Amino acid sequence: MVREGSQAHAERMTADGEVLLTEARAGGVARILISPDEIQHEVRTIAAELDRDYADDRPLLVGVLRGAVNFLADLMQTMTIPLEIDFMAVSSYGAATKSSGVVRILKDLDEEIEGRRVIVVEDIVDSGLTLQYLLDVLNRRNPRDLRVVALLKKDKPDAIDVQVDRIGFHIPDEFVVGYGLDYAGLYRNLPYVAVLDSAAIHTT
Ligand code: IMP
Ligand code: MG
Repeated sequence: MVREGSQAHAERMTADGEVLLTEARAGGVARILISPDEIQHEVRTIAAELDRDYADDRPLLVGVLRGAVNFLADLMQTMTIPLEIDFMAVSSYGAATKSSGVVRILKDLDEEIEGRRVIVVEDIVDSGLTLQYLLDVLNRRNPRDLRVVALLKKDKPDAIDVQVDRIGFHIPDEFVVGYGLDYAGLYRNLPYVAVLDSAAIHTT
């Protein structure tokens, strides 16, 4: 029998979490911060908002590689209006866990965005430097409008004040992995957002 109510839900989540943490892909994960259910629920909420706001405009969803792949894939499949997607790739941290502040375009859009409604889909806003750079580049191309949807935003006092229109989850200033986010290339295929065991992080 399945009991309803928040306590039953919490128990179910803990049990599911314990199972998930025994998987090979979760090696080095200390704890789950945002469960698969919580992510999917938020994705459905955001998708419904975008469906409503862009019903007649065939928006271009711009995913920022590689971290936004999971979020973009789930979001676009949950949206029911006609839309297009494109990707940009910018330099990331490599194997370090701190932003260098240096941003480079590794792959540009294939589509022209002049006059179009563009939705930038980001995995996480940390210092905000990457997103700020990206928005400067895209705004110079005169889109009709530009909206930013980020799954995660770190509560970080020294982050720059960058445009983010919709945030899925505010998280503490910790290094997280999963649901697209990596550490040294790994963990992108976790269906949840997690914190690594400090022993699994190499700070060099
Ligand atoms: P920002 O320029 O500091 O805002 O960070 C930009 C990019 O760094 C994000 O889009 C992520 O790809 C990556 N990043 C930032 N914080 C984390 C994290 O906690 N885990 C994994 N990647 C991160
Ligand atoms: Mg990113």
